[in-house]
Amino acid sequence: CGITGYIGYREAYPIVINGLKRLEYRGYDSAGVMMFDGNNIHLSKTKGKVSDLEVISNKEEKRKKGNIGIGHTRWATHGVPNDVNSHPHVSQSGDLVIVHNGIIENYDTLRKELISRGYTFHSDTDTEVLINLIEEVKKQEGCKLGKAVQLALNNVIGAYAIAVFDKTKPNEIVVARLGSPIAIGVGKDNTEFFVASDASPFIEYTKDAIYLEDEEMAIIKLGKGVNVRKINDDSLVDADVHKLKMSLDQIEKGGYDHFMLKEIHEQPKAIIDTYRGRMLADEGIIRMAGIDDNMNKFLNAERIIIVACGTSWHAGLVGEYLIEDKARIPVEVEYASEFRYRNPIITSKDVVIAISQSGETADTLAAIKLAKSKGAFVFGICNVVGSSIARETDAGAYTHAGPEIGVASTKAFTTQITVLTLIALKLASKKGEISKPKLRAFLQEMQMIPKKVEDLLKIDDKVKEIAAVYKDAPNCLYLGRGFNFPVALEGALKLKEISYIHAEGYPAAEMKHGPIALIDENMPIFVIATNKGHYEKVVSNIQEIKSRAGKIIAIVTEGDTQVKEIADHVIEIPETEEALSPLLTTIPFQLLSYHIAVMLGKNVDQPRNLAKSVTVE
Ligand code: G6P
Repeated sequence: CGITGYIGYREAYPIVINGLKRLEYRGYDSAGVMMFDGNNIHLSKTKGKVSDLEVISNKEEKRKKGNIGIGHTRWATHGVPNDVNSHPHVSQSGDLVIVHNGIIENYDTLRKELISRGYTFHSDTDTEVLINLIEEVKKQEGCKLGKAVQLALNNVIGAYAIAVFDKTKPNEIVVARLGSPIAIGVGKDNTEFFVASDASPFIEYTKDAIYLEDEEMAIIKLGKGVNVRKINDDSLVDADVHKLKMSLDQIEKGGYDHFMLKEIHEQPKAIIDTYRGRMLADEGIIRMAGIDDNMNKFLNAERIIIVACGTSWHAGLVGEYLIEDKARIPVEVEYASEFRYRNPIITSKDVVIAISQSGETADTLAAIKLAKSKGAFVFGICNVVGSSIARETDAGAYTHAGPEIGVASTKAFTTQITVLTLIALKLASKKGEISKPKLRAFLQEMQMIPKKVEDLLKIDDKVKEIAAVYKDAPNCLYLGRGFNFPVALEGALKLKEISYIHAEGYPAAEMKHGPIALIDENMPIFVIATNKGHYEKVVSNIQEIKSRAGKIIAIVTEGDTQVKEIADHVIEIPETEEALSPLLTTIPFQLLSYHIAVMLGKNVDQPRNLAKSVTVE
């Protein structure tokens, strides 16, 4: 879910609404806004997107009036997405208004308690319980809003980012965070303030931002400033004001039809931005402060455990192949959600690498905390600067891919692999597993990758033709081996996410242990068959498909002749090192999913039921 809020001298409505649009990547089941016009609260909310919300607000001018507003775009956890369950929620008296991300786990107990005290509930949400709890505490204690929020939160189990407004004290907004991010934009001389789940809704108004840490709350008061306190013991926090570097054009579509397409095309630059300043190819040198400063941790590690979710987990699998192959350190890759709950064996001899584009994924964050509590050293690979995971880890490396807005992750994946490649090589060279000339040659080849990706992006028309042929297939299979097995998984995920076609990724040789039963003349099978590594073996797998009449779309190295003869379609990628090939082989799969989704009329940037940043477990 995403939160926005404004309090100050400007019209709040456009700021809140445009902010919500920028945060829609966080969820888009339903949306709502509260405006305060100086006397009255006006609520507009609806199932659907922010654009649907605008239709409702446009019906009556008064719904848009005022200098104070809070808004919400939702990814449902409790209660189906409908108008009633949409945020903001109002307390029983009608005075208090809240927007909330996260889950209140003990909401049922609290709800029963409140019902026994005469409260009635209109929605199925845990949020309505929370706002009434705050109201009840305020009444019982006779205290101000900030105190009531604090006392109420101390009775809550769960995760949250909240913004609360009290009509009877309309010069302030109270925010709090546990597990879900909150950024506060500070206007000049405390004349205005912005609240949001990340800084993107307010970058054109202020570059000064305060990020709350977990278990912190802030009372934001016009003319006074931002008072940050610890939720549990009320102690004052001296919060840093960060200078934002993000620019507006970075979060706009820049002439592309969709963010996803823009982000696919940004990959050559994003990869360069990732390794810029970190590798001196001609000298065979890699510099990464987070690794250099903690080299002994890595060199003494008995194993490296990579934790992540979704696409980042796929990047982690490529990382396993890279680190084991190059640096000869044992690696395990875990779904963060499984790892955190399966009582894993972790010791201070383990190094954990957590990978997350958003840096906010709840399961990954929890896995990090668990690993830290067991004494492991935790290294983060994040894209979003200043995100929770970036701050929670002991050290890390940013991917520098720039904002990724499309829900289907593209440039985050290739830049995560770029960082993992640098880490693998750095460790390999430190351990003497790779000679200087070899390292130099490898890095020089790596420097060619952005240009090769750029050339590869020119095959767009060809991929479009293939997409047109297979767009109505009910099922697809993606196969790869070695470094390209994770690319097969990622290819299938991309197709599922945005076109809703069922797809599975498999290690090519495993096909005969199950998926082969699915193959008939209607089944498209996408096979990565580049000329290195296991080429001959993959060719045999392709023969097995052919003899079952499956349709073969193969990704081959430029100039390939053998696979061309058997496959129904081939897509050529430039020649490169096998370990670098995922950076190329993944590109046609991204384009393919994109075109199929567009042809099927799906919402590419905001696929149904998904969210870009999953801050609930
Ligand atoms: C969500 C997104 C995926 C992403 C995953 C992990 O499911 O839709 O694209 O891969 O979360 O996100 P993270 O930000 O931790 O990489």
